[in-house]
Amino acid sequence: MRKKKIVVAITGASGAIYANLLLKKLSQLKDQIEEVAIVMSDNAKDVWRFELDNDDFRTFDYKIFAKNDFMAPFASGSARFDTMVIVPCSMGTLGRIAGGISDDLISRAADVILKERRKLILVARDTPLNLIHIRNMATVTEAGGVICPAIPSYYSKPQTIEELAMTVVNRIIDLIGLENESYQWNGI
Ligand SMILES: Cc1cc2nc3c(=O)[nH]c(=O)nc-3n(C[C@H](O)[C@H](O)[C@H](O)COP(=O)(O)O)c2cc1C
Repeated sequence: MRKKKIVVAITGASGAIYANLLLKKLSQLKDQIEEVAIVMSDNAKDVWRFELDNDDFRTFDYKIFAKNDFMAPFASGSARFDTMVIVPCSMGTLGRIAGGISDDLISRAADVILKERRKLILVARDTPLNLIHIRNMATVTEAGGVICPAIPSYYSKPQTIEELAMTVVNRIIDLIGLENESYQWNGI
């Protein structure tokens, strides 16, 4: 299997725990990965600090690109990143992508992934949803993106918040196409 080049974008929706656990999991699967690049919105940093009481996004062994760095390799299709995960994905970022408004590195990189027909995974988070959110999700889906809502599952009987959040993160890992030992329904 060819090693993956993955962009992890973090936006200001609730659920910084998902980004934290995904980055930790990717560190454990590094034999399957060529490169991970991180980009965060300003609100993502605020929400991360508010929800997790730390600055741990700085501790990963991955380069963090500034949100307006249009010189970042994955702002262009020629860098050949396979997958972009936006986790958590705010309704604002979803709307910018659905509208084709590439005014920051996150929305530009998502635009590039879609135009290059590569994999875009949006771990969308808000509740309830209004019709604009739902239409934007339909638009991104029609353009080839995958909406993977930040909705945990309970059939593995998670005992901690981390275990619960990992039910979402393991789905993201599956969608990226990485081999991963995790609980699956019927043990499949
Ligand atoms: C603590 C906190 C939680 C938030 N949770 C959500 C959320 O779950 N979903 C969402 O769409 N926006 C949420 N927001 C609002 C976004 O941060 C805001 O709309 C922002 O403009 C999104 O911009 P970004 O996508 O560039 O990060 C939250 C804001 C704060 C401060």
